[in-house]
Amino acid sequence: MTATQPVAVITGASSGIGAATARSLAAAGYRVALLARRLDRITALAAELGDGALAIEADVTDRDALVAAVARVQAELGGTDVLVNNAGVMLLGPFSAEQRNDYRQMVEVNLLGAITTTEVFLNQLKDGGGDIVNISSVAGRTARAGNGVYAATKWGMNGWSESLRQELLPDVRVTLIEPGIVATELSTHITHEETRQGVQQAYDVAEVTPDDVAEIIAFTLARPRRLAINEVLLRPAGQA
Ligand SMILES: NC(=O)c1ccc[n+]([C@@H]2O[C@H](COP(=O)([O-])OP(=O)(O)OC[C@H]3O[C@@H](n4cnc5c(N)ncnc54)[C@H](OP(=O)(O)O)[C@@H]3O)[C@@H](O)[C@H]2O)c1
Repeated sequence: MTATQPVAVITGASSGIGAATARSLAAAGYRVALLARRLDRITALAAELGDGALAIEADVTDRDALVAAVARVQAELGGTDVLVNNAGVMLLGPFSAEQRNDYRQMVEVNLLGAITTTEVFLNQLKDGGGDIVNISSVAGRTARAGNGVYAATKWGMNGWSESLRQELLPDVRVTLIEPGIVATELSTHITHEETRQGVQQAYDVAEVTPDDVAEIIAFTLARPRRLAINEVLLRPAGQA
C-alpha cells in the first residue's frame, strides 16, 4: 500500500458484480472500501484482498450509516477517488398492491440509495477529481411487462447520471453501466414466486459473469482523464 494508490468505494460489494468489481479494482492497484449489509461477506472479501481493503457495514437506505462510512474512508484510506453505485435489488412481478413493499424497497435502494451515497461522498470525489460509476441495466433502456418499477429505478438512474455528468465535468467523470443478464444471485430475492421461477431459469443458464462486467468497469476507469466513457450497454450475445 502506498499513499499514491487510488481509493474506490463500492456499494453492494458482498456479492455478484460488486464483489467482482472490488477484486478487479484491487488487482488494478486500488485500495477498496467494501460497503454492504452482510458484514461477514465483506469482511471475508477484505481479508482476501488484503492490504488497504476495508469492510464497512452500511445499508444504502440509511444515510447516517453512509455518513459514518465517509468518515471511516477519510480516516483510514485518506479519501475517495472512485464511487461505484452498485447496490441494487430486482424484485420483479406483475404490478399489484401485493408487491408494494418491493416497489418501495427498489426505489429506496436502487435509486435513492445511489443518490444518497453520491451526495455524502461528493466532497471527497471532487477533491482532486474522481469517478462515479452507476450500475444501471438494460432495464434502464427498455421496459417490459413485469419489470416496471425496477425499470423505473434504472431509467431514473440514467436521467440522474446524465444531469450529474454535465454538472460535475470535467473533474468528476460519470459512467453508466447497463448490463443485461449476468450470473449473480440478483434473481433469488424475487418475492413473487411464479416470477422468480421463470426469471431463475434464465439466470441458471446465464453466461456473462460478474468478472466480465468488472473488467469493463476497470477498463473504463483506466482511460486517460481527458477521455470519459459515459455509457456502456452490454448484453449476453444471445439476449434479445
Ligand atoms: N445480475 C444482472 O443480471 C444485472 C443486470 C443489470 C443490472 N444489474 C445491477 O447490478 C447491481 C448488482 O447486482 P448483482 O447482479 O451483482 O446482484 P447481487 O449479487 O444480488 O448483488 C446485490 C448487492 O446489493 C447489495 N444490497 C442490496 N440491498 C442493499 C442495501 N439496502 N444496502 C446496501 N447494499 C445492498 C447486496 O448486499 P447485502 O445484501 O449484503 O447488503 C449485494 O451486495 C444491481 O444494481 C443490479 O440492479 C444486475
